[in-house]
Amino acid sequence: MKKTSLFLWAACLGALLLPSCTQQEELKEIRSGELWPDNTGVHVNAHGGGILYHDGTYYWYGENKSDSTSAAMVGIMCYSSENLTDWKNEGAVLPVEMNDTTSDIIQGCIMERPKVIYNEKTGKFVMWFHLELKGKGYAAARSAVAVADNPTGPFKYLRSGRINPGKLPFDMTEEQRAVLDTLDAEKYKEWWTPVWYDAIAKGLFVKRDLEGGQMARDMQLFVDDDGKGYHIYSSEDNLTLHIAELSDDYLSHTGKYVRLAPAGHNEAPAIFKKDGTYWMITSGCTGWDPNEARMFSAPSIWGPWTKHPNPCVGKDAEITFHGQSTFVLPVHGKKDAFMFMADIWRPKHPSDARYIWLPIQFRDGKPVIEWRDAWTLAAFDAQ
Ligand code: GAL
Repeated sequence: MKKTSLFLWAACLGALLLPSCTQQEELKEIRSGELWPDNTGVHVNAHGGGILYHDGTYYWYGENKSDSTSAAMVGIMCYSSENLTDWKNEGAVLPVEMNDTTSDIIQGCIMERPKVIYNEKTGKFVMWFHLELKGKGYAAARSAVAVADNPTGPFKYLRSGRINPGKLPFDMTEEQRAVLDTLDAEKYKEWWTPVWYDAIAKGLFVKRDLEGGQMARDMQLFVDDDGKGYHIYSSEDNLTLHIAELSDDYLSHTGKYVRLAPAGHNEAPAIFKKDGTYWMITSGCTGWDPNEARMFSAPSIWGPWTKHPNPCVGKDAEITFHGQSTFVLPVHGKKDAFMFMADIWRPKHPSDARYIWLPIQFRDGKPVIEWRDAWTLAAFDAQ
């Protein structure tokens, strides 16, 4: 037998005996909290991120964090992978602006929690993120949008601003509007009192920000089965979440929105849909410090949203295993496979922040998240 055919025989036999490539790759472990080296051996730098699955590849977008500051020194990063464990650094797909000091995204601004969705109609990749202007702390509370022809960019920065100026939540009743009309900001100068909370719940800050548009900080994007896009963000000084409809091209807001958990102080919203039910996992508001996750569900994106107990169980569940939610990924090709993603922040050494990725289990139809030191995607087959 010629050398070449001998080699072919050996290769075929090998292929029969060994598990297929995909099977092998599925067995790679996801180890939350550890260093996750990319293809260049450097810990993945994509914090507060989210993942887009497109044409056989996962694209992970997130904040590039430097060693000593949480401000944006580089911009929004992208990493690609076919198996969720081997990540290729695709670079800064929306870099900060280095020279033009009039740019919203000048180096030193704050760019947080970027998310990217694909628009079937336009064939474009649309990124939204939370933007704070350089030197202004967290006062701007703006959302910014960028667009690209390819998932790995480059993304073209379009604009930033507050959301839905002049619009009240579309589900506000006449009665609620009448109450809003009577709310006098002068009477609620002292924060955190019961009457102040009550006024917030009734829309005190919605009214305050009506003209200039609603504040938006921690955020999420969601594309529903019918292709409609939604932007979910902590508004009203982080006191109330808003869910706002995006235009058909996902590049602007339509003016239609609802409030979720008024005065409930929710951040870090992560949404997914299973069997027609919308689930939202959020955090409380304690800055970089971890707190207890919350969970809500609704039969429609517009609500009504019902609150459930913390989905995390076991050791350190009351501080979300030291993390804060950022995204829930529907794992491609597997039924009911949803992966919870969170960040373990390290504000003193921001680039050393770690990732928590855990499979969501369903018990009595409700999401449950348990810590695992190591797991593989095969965990979804066992459900
Ligand atoms: C967190 C928020 C982060 C970041 C941080 C700043 O509560 O989730 O995205 O904004 O506050 O302190």
